Order: sequence, then structure tokens, then C-alpha cells
Amino acid sequence: MDRIVPSGSDKQDGKPSTSGVGADTSRVSIESVSPSTPRGGPPSSLTPEPYYQDDLITLYHGDCRVVTAWLLADVLVTDPPYGYSHSSGGGPRGAASWRRTVIANDGDSSIRSWMLEAWGAGPALVFGSWKRPHPPAARAVLVWDKGGHRGMGDLSIPWKPNHEQIYVLGSGYIGERTSGVLAGHHLPPSEAAGRVHPHEKPVSLMGALIRKCPPGVIADPFAGSGSTLVAAKAEGRRAIGVELDERYCETAAKRLAQDVLFGGVA
Ligand SMILES: C[S@@+](CC[C@H](N)C(=O)[O-])C[C@H]1O[C@@H](n2cnc3c(N)ncnc32)[C@H](O)[C@@H]1O
Repeated sequence: MDRIVPSGSDKQDGKPSTSGVGADTSRVSIESVSPSTPRGGPPSSLTPEPYYQDDLITLYHGDCRVVTAWLLADVLVTDPPYGYSHSSGGGPRGAASWRRTVIANDGDSSIRSWMLEAWGAGPALVFGSWKRPHPPAARAVLVWDKGGHRGMGDLSIPWKPNHEQIYVLGSGYIGERTSGVLAGHHLPPSEAAGRVHPHEKPVSLMGALIRKCPPGVIADPFAGSGSTLVAAKAEGRRAIGVELDERYCETAAKRLAQDVLFGGVA
């Protein structure tokens, strides 16, 4: 089966690096590969044209189990479906366009398990919910303190669910040893105020995570509105993303293009 893969093998694990993703097509070649992914995932297919591409970022519209180019990256930073059919209430006034919609593949955590198995032992920062078992290979859990988040949760107890978990897997992380509770990263409170995805993560939070990642290309196979990709770009890192829902691909592409045009980060 033909698949577009980067040439060269400059990674310690001997797998080809995706340092060539993005505009640097000089390192990209078309090879004939067996119908298994480099990391042992399921059959791959012809990689589609990128939905968005610039010097650093490549975003594909598709199913990350089929569009497997992300498996060639060096570091996984991703926010997969939570795995418990979470349905957003639509914000404080319940007015968001995604009100009562469910994220694709959110019925259980099997897609996260698939992703981690396909990824293997490489470095991975993976968002998750305490309502599902943590990945067996997790070495640590970080907590995103959402601050003033007004999540409803269980109204019969006097605490708000204003936090999320981030699992740390693999090795090679860098930087100063700081608190595992990540505070001060906020989202607009509503779609009207600028929220663009029901499960959006702050770009500043993704940037803080990325700055402690080992060098190399970042993968986000569940890119959503592109927060990881926008943060990677702001940090000058190459990144490759995949998103199933075209609505969110479009949002991500707009955020990334806006960054190109205005030099800012959405
Ligand atoms: C938790 S959200 C990610 C939100 C993202 N962190 C952001 O800031 O916008 C998970 C995303 O995974 C996407 N998704 C679900 N199944 C997928 C699949 N098989 N391949 C690619 N994307 C998928 C959903 O459409 C959703 O946008």
C-alpha cells in the first residue's frame, strides 16, 4: 500500500522522523509500506492532502486510526475523547452551538487504548478523566486547575469539578521541576465570549506542557479546535494533527492561519 512517509531516520528509536512534515517537502518521499503502521497499529491508507499546512504545522481531516502519519512524530500531546459519552451543557446559559452534542468515539475509552498501543513507549502527555481508569503505563498525573470554571458536576456535593487530569507517559521530559498542578490557564467562559470547542484546552496550558517535552515533532491525533497545534506553532515546534470532525478542522485551520496573518495566538 502506498503511503506518504518522511524519509530519513534520525530518531533514537530508529523509526523515521517526521521532521519533514509541513512545507519542507524535500524530506518527504512516497514509499511502499506494509499494511501495518511503524508502531504496530492497524492498517493505514493513502494519506490525504493536508486540510491545513504551513512551515511548522500539518493538519489532516480524517480518522486517526486510518490517517496514521501522526505515528511518525516524536512526542504525543493529545486530548482524546473522555470515554464516558460526555454531553456539554452548552456553557453557563446553555446557549453554545454544541449544546447536548457528544464527541465522536466518546462512548468508552477504547480509542485512547488503541492510540496508546499504536504509539508504544514514546513520550506522551494525554488528557483524561478520573471517571475512566488511567493508562497502565502512566508515570505521573498532572492536574489542570481550571480556576473559575463553573462545571456543574454532582450538585449534591459542595465541590466543583474544576480540574482535569493529564497523564505523563514515557521519558525525555526537560525543564525546571515545577508543580504538577497547572494553574492560571483559562478559557473564555462561553462560545459567545470566544470558546470554539466544547472540550477546548487553553493554548497557554498546551504551551506550558510542550515546553517540557523532549525535542522533535509533536503529534495530536485528536486535534479538535487545534489548541495543541496553535501552541506548538507559537513555540516554534513542528506538529502534525488529525481531526475527525470537519467543523473543528475548519476552526483549527482558521486559528492557525490567523496566527500566520497577524503573528498572534488565538
Ligand atoms: C477532547 S476533544 C479535543 C479538543 C482539543 N483539545 C481542543 O482544544 O479543541 C477530542 C476530539 O477528537 C476528535 N475525534 C474523535 N474521534 C476521532 C478519530 N477517530 N480521529 C480523529 N479525531 C477524532 C473529536 O471530534 C474531538 O474534536
